[in-house]
Amino acid sequence: MKDRVAIKWMETVDSTQNEVQRQQDGLDNLSVVAARNQTAGRGQRGNRWKTRPGENLTFSILLLPGRDGIPAIPAGDQFVISEIVTLALHTTLEDAGIPSKIKWPNDIYVGDRKICGVLIENTLQGGMVHSSIIGIGLNVNQTEFDPEVMNPTSMKNLTGRTFDLQELLVLFMDCFRDELSKLTQRRITRVRYLSALYRFGTQHSYTDCATETVFEGKITGISQQGLLCVEMPDGIIREFGFKEISYII
Ligand code: BTN
Repeated sequence: MKDRVAIKWMETVDSTQNEVQRQQDGLDNLSVVAARNQTAGRGQRGNRWKTRPGENLTFSILLLPGRDGIPAIPAGDQFVISEIVTLALHTTLEDAGIPSKIKWPNDIYVGDRKICGVLIENTLQGGMVHSSIIGIGLNVNQTEFDPEVMNPTSMKNLTGRTFDLQELLVLFMDCFRDELSKLTQRRITRVRYLSALYRFGTQHSYTDCATETVFEGKITGISQQGLLCVEMPDGIIREFGFKEISYII
């Protein structure tokens, strides 16, 4: 794996995801594009990702598995990318004195508030992950948020401290490279992911999106493909995909 990663800082861009997509052919493995301002930041489920310019980390990483000493990832194991990214975020926050949890599949929460969102866009080729563009929006120094943003918090809200964005990004990339170096230790990674999982093993309310019914359930694990395993009120374990379940917080 490369000793150092190239981080390109931009003043304004539509979305760092789009920028990495556009530049992909000319970028090295593990290149990072970070922006002080995104005009059309994209979130999960087709949502917008809006944050105040210059106050947060908004960046995307190009990951090319199977090259430059990074193990190949079969398409069926692509959830491991969510695991290593969220574990690296969890460690970065822990190092800053912030105890966080991973809300499946890849949000980062502190208590019941969201501090970070992750958008992972993979391309597959021949049953393998060919490329992955990993977009991360970490709330760092912003202390006030749009009322439309659900349960937000930031590193500054939690610690009272102002963080240097460039330094923080370098620290995160160190944690991410460390996780990548352990990519083949799938079982250990899964155990660590579960031990950091928000609401793991306790009873909470959820909505079954297909039937729009609310139920009480307990998260019991993650399937090999990365589906969320939930013990239903009748004791049966059901597996949910990303758009099939919503947390009631
Ligand atoms: C989410 O909805 O929780 C995921 C948010 C991901 C936002 C990041 S910010 C950097 C990168 N560029 C984008 O347009 N989106 C991701």
